[in-house]
Amino acid sequence: MKLSSANINVMIKACRKASKTLIRDFGEIENLQVSVKGPGDFVTASDKKVEKILIEELQKARPNYSILSEEIGEISNDESFKWIIDPIDGTANFLHGIPHFAISIGLEQDGEIICGIIYDPIKDEMFVAEKGNGSYLNNQRIRVSSRSKLKDCIIFTGGPKIEAKDRESSLKEYYNFSSKVQIPIRKLGSAALDMAYVAAGRCDGFWQKYLSYWDIAAGIILVKESGGFVTDYYGENKYLENKTLLVTNSKINKEMVEVLK
Ligand code: IPD
Ligand code: CA
Ligand code: CA
Repeated sequence: MKLSSANINVMIKACRKASKTLIRDFGEIENLQVSVKGPGDFVTASDKKVEKILIEELQKARPNYSILSEEIGEISNDESFKWIIDPIDGTANFLHGIPHFAISIGLEQDGEIICGIIYDPIKDEMFVAEKGNGSYLNNQRIRVSSRSKLKDCIIFTGGPKIEAKDRESSLKEYYNFSSKVQIPIRKLGSAALDMAYVAAGRCDGFWQKYLSYWDIAAGIILVKESGGFVTDYYGENKYLENKTLLVTNSKINKEMVEVLK
């Protein structure tokens, strides 16, 4: 079984094409770690190259759709459809030669995300979802986990690194969290993959403040279509307005809201 609507096929084709450049450039990064200048400029150029390929491919197939993409911003068009693109999510990993990053593309219709793909080119993992038709990883249906007790869970988060000296205050301020709460927490460095992993049942939840729409657009539909919840820190629907995002396998949503609010 696989998802193969016309729009999904367009997204997959664009993603596969752009990922060739991404993989080639990732191979260069290792050499650049030892250069005096470092890989910074190379990564910026790579980000732009990948974005350009994605946009060219998407526009070729759907010339009237609008676009919101991290590096170039908005391209407005007449249609009610809009591609939401993050060419590389997990740039810090990419820059350091850590093989954990992804291309993320969501498609919005009249303000609602109707399909999304998140592609990890290194592991060749293609997460795809479409409204009403479920979520898939490499053409296999995925579901969220069924763990219901926080102590048994793994929860992802993201954000700035925390200095040991202000650990407790930073945990409270940025993460809305206290270190007294004992939950196994991981920071893998790609919000898009964090959400895809919740959708695939690899972890049980993810929370983070101040994410941008391109970080989460594809992840929203992936989590929803695999049976998960997408809310703000109060368990409400206002994650875009409030800039706080909590996604869970649904079973631990209430408990996580208690912890975060
Ligand atoms: C970042 C990643 C990271 C998250 C940051 C994002 P980028 O996106 O998703 O996991 O913690 O808030 O900005 O910069 O790699 O596209
Ligand atoms: Ca991002
Ligand atoms: Ca990015």
